[in-house]
Order: sequence, then C-alpha cells, then structure tokens
Amino acid sequence: MESEQPPPGIDVSVPHSARRYDYWLGGKDNFEADRESARAVAEGYPPVQCAAVANRAFLRRVVAYLARDVGVRQYLDIGAGLPTVGNVHEIAQAIAPESRVVYVDNDPIVAIHAKTLLRGGSHGRTAYLEADLRDPAAILTDPETTSVLDLSRPVALMLVAVLHFITDDQRPYELVRQLCDALAPGSYLVVSHATNDHLSVEDLAESDAANQRSGIPFRLRSTAEFARFFEGLELQPPGIGSILSWRPETWSAHPRPEAVSMLGAVARKP
Ligand SMILES: C[S@@+](CC[C@H](N)C(=O)[O-])C[C@H]1O[C@@H](n2cnc3c(N)ncnc32)[C@H](O)[C@@H]1O
Repeated sequence: MESEQPPPGIDVSVPHSARRYDYWLGGKDNFEADRESARAVAEGYPPVQCAAVANRAFLRRVVAYLARDVGVRQYLDIGAGLPTVGNVHEIAQAIAPESRVVYVDNDPIVAIHAKTLLRGGSHGRTAYLEADLRDPAAILTDPETTSVLDLSRPVALMLVAVLHFITDDQRPYELVRQLCDALAPGSYLVVSHATNDHLSVEDLAESDAANQRSGIPFRLRSTAEFARFFEGLELQPPGIGSILSWRPETWSAHPRPEAVSMLGAVARKP
C-alpha cells in the first residue's frame, strides 16, 4: 500500500524518477503523480517494470563482484534511489565490513529515507548527500563525500540507471569524465542505461511519445553512445551488453535482452 501523506515541504504533485522507480520495484514511497507517469511510460514501453527489477539485480551483482572479486572498498553511488532490498552498503559491508559508501540523489524524499536508514544501523562509514549529478564538483568536494571517501584511493563510481535522465544539452559525457578524472587509478565506473537498440522505428516513436507524456525527460542511447561513457577506461569482462547477461547468477527464466532494453558495463580506470 502506498503512503499518501507526503513529508512536509515536498511537492508530490509532479512525478519524480526515484518514486516512479520505487513504484515499479513494488515499493510504497510513491504518489499518484509518480504512478501516473509510470503508467504513461508502460503504455509506450510495456516491459519497463521488468527492466527496473532486472536493473536492480544487475546493481546487486556488480557490487558483489566489486567487493568480492576485485576488492573495492569505496563506493560513490550517484542517483542512488530510494532504499530498497539489497542497498549498496548492505551488499558491500556484508562482504567487507570496512566498505565505505556515499549515496547521492537529487530527490529530497530519498534524502529523508536514506538518512533514516543510515541512522538506524551501525554504518559509520556510510553517508548520504542530497546533490545533483549535473554538478560533479559539488559532489566531489562536499564534506559528506570527503569525510567518508578517500579519493586518493580507488572508488567505484556507480551511475546505475541515472544517465538516461541526463539529456544531451546537460553534457552527460563531460559529467562522467569530470567525475572519473577525480578518481584514483584502479577506480571503477559502473553504468546501466536504457537503450533504443532493440526498438523498431514504430516502437521507438511510441516510447518517445510515452516518455514525453510521463513528465520526466528521458534519453535512450544506442550501444555506440553508451560506449562513449567508457572512453579511456578498461572494460571488464563481459564488456558492454544487456544487463541480463552481465555475469548472470542463473541461466534460467531470463527474458531476452530486448525484453528489458538496458545496457550495463563495468570499467577500470588505468
Ligand atoms: C531509476 S532510479 C535508479 C536507482 C538506483 N541507482 C538503481 O539503479 O537501482 C534513478 C535515480 O536517479 C535519481 N536522479 C535522477 N536525476 C538525477 C540527478 N540529476 N542527480 C542526482 N540524482 C538523480 C533519481 O532521483 C532516482 O533516485
């Protein structure tokens, strides 16, 4: 059941991507405007809920891989979303309790929930910052970031299902480059992103129209456009592909890649 009492001072009459995503994941921190936006997207792109669930599973697999197989101990998760099952700090700290995580999101509702979550546990090395991906300098220099993360040591920069909200005029490649430039060699970049690769011209037109109606700007990108985020970095196996085929834990019951239309990849900064 959804919570309809908005926290004081928060405008829930306009949809927000964090709450809409929460709705698709079966959460309760969403409001009518978010659900209406979700329905508008689903009209043009029915598998969107499946994509959201698959994306969250991708994020969990990546963090487990980075923590266990690679030895990453610091995470900067921008566009973190509302806390849900299997948050980055929970997965990372279950494998390596000393892991440090800074969550960043621009939705004030995420801030409220994240602070509650972080206050509730004994996660001394986890912090939350309300900030915008479009202002990397503010994220990198905020005391919340610099007190938890040692940027002279490797960090995993997580940009999971967030860059498709950055339209071309907002310079997504420059933003990613600016963030990566601030990270130490041996850092990792993790990205997942909605793609138009599998859509026919008709489906693409329908999906674009649905996104317009949804009230949240959205930019699908092709594999070639996705690959540009990793320029100068070393892609880790299996490289760029559907989030479904990124180190899957099981081979059963996976929908076809085009059923979720989301690309994912992990790369290392040399
Ligand atoms: C689809 S959710 C993804 C959440 C999480 N990364 C995941 O993959 O499960 C996108 C998140 O990005 C956040 N977001 C969108 N635009 C942003 C921006 N410009 N700066 C920071 N966060 C942003 C939204 O508030 C939302 O929480």
